[in-house]
Amino acid sequence: MTRIAVVEGDGIGHEVIPVARSVLEHLHDEYEYFDVDVGYGRWERTGCPCTDPDIAKLKTADAILFGAITTPPMKDYQSVVLRIRKALDLYANIRPVRGDGFDITIVRENTEGLYSGIEDVTSDRATTLRLVSRKGTERIVRKAIDLARQRNGQLTIGHKANVIKSDVFFRDICITEAKAAKIAFNDKFIDALALDLLQHPKNYNVIVTTNMFGDILSDVAAYLVGGLGLVPSANIGDRYALFEPVHGSAPDIAGKNIANPIAAIRSAAMMLDYLGDHEGSRRINKAVGQVVSAGICTRDLCGTAGTREFGVAVLSCLKNPEQYPLV
Ligand code: NAI
Ligand code: MG
Repeated sequence: MTRIAVVEGDGIGHEVIPVARSVLEHLHDEYEYFDVDVGYGRWERTGCPCTDPDIAKLKTADAILFGAITTPPMKDYQSVVLRIRKALDLYANIRPVRGDGFDITIVRENTEGLYSGIEDVTSDRATTLRLVSRKGTERIVRKAIDLARQRNGQLTIGHKANVIKSDVFFRDICITEAKAAKIAFNDKFIDALALDLLQHPKNYNVIVTTNMFGDILSDVAAYLVGGLGLVPSANIGDRYALFEPVHGSAPDIAGKNIANPIAAIRSAAMMLDYLGDHEGSRRINKAVGQVVSAGICTRDLCGTAGTREFGVAVLSCLKNPEQYPLV
C-alpha cells in the first residue's frame, strides 16, 4: 500500500494542501494518507515544532506532500524545513519552471552550502559556514546531468567562483562530471545568470547550483510564469521524497481563501511522477491548464476564484475534461 504523509504546516499550507490532497485522493483513493502536524503552529501550542517521532513518522511514508512552514526570526528557533531536508537527506531540490517556449529545471543542492546550519553568533560577530563537499556536489550534479540527458538538454552551472573559493570547488567538480558524462554544458556567475534567465529564458534547460543561490534563483524564475503561486518542487533523496510548493506560508494572505493552489497541485503531480503514475501527473497538469484557460484563476493571476473554488474546478475538470477548453 502506498502511504502518503501530508504536512499542511502553517499559513496558506492549511489552504493549498487540502486542495492538492483532494486532487490526489480523487486519482488515488487506494493510497493511505496520514497527517503529520509540524511547524510553527505546533510550536505555539506545544513549545516544540517537530519531534524525533515526527521525523520517524515521515520516514514511514512513500512520499510526503508538504505545504510550508513559518520560520519566525527568533534566536534559537531551528528551521523545521531544513531539519526535515537534512534528516531525510533530501539532497536534490528540483524546481521546474515551464512557460511559453521555455522549460527550465532548477536543480538546487538542498543539504549544505550556506544552509548547513554551522553557525556561531557572539555579541559582536556572526559567522555562517558555507560548506560545499565533494560528495554533496557530485551527487547533485549527477542528478542534474541525468535530468539534462533525459531531456536532451544543456546543463548550466550557476556559481560565484569569481569571489568564493567554495564555488570554485563546486564549479570545477560540476565541469569534471559534465565532461565525463559528455553532456553539453556552460557556466555562469549567478548574478548575471539571474538577469539573463529573465531576459532569455529559452536559452536555459537544466540549471545546477548551490543551496542559497538555488533558493533565490527559483523565486526569481517564478516571475517568468506569473509568480510564486505556480511553481512546484520535488525534494528527492536516495530513500525519501517530499513535494512542496516553492512558496512559503505567506502570512500576509493566509486564512483568506485567496492563495493560489496551483504550486501545491503541481507538486502533487510531481509526486505522482515519482510514484510512477505519469498519466495521473499529466492529467493533473492538463486540468490545471484547462481551468486557467477557462478564465478561472485566483487573485494573483487577476482572477476572482478562491483557493477552494479553484480546487473544485480542477476536480470537476478531471472528472469531465470536455467542459473546459483544451490546452
Ligand atoms: P512567501 O513565499 O510565503 O511569500 C512571498 C510573497 O508571495 C507574499 O507576498 C505572498 O503573499 C505571495 N505568495 C506566496 N505564495 C502564494 C500563493 N500560493 N498564492 C498567492 N500569493 C502567494 O515568502 P515569505 O513571505 O518570504 O515567507 C513567509 C514565511 O514562509 C516565512 O516564515 C518563511 O520562513 C516561510 N517559508 C517557508 C518555506 C517552506 O516551508 N518551504 C519556503 C519559503 C518561506
Ligand atoms: Mg525559498
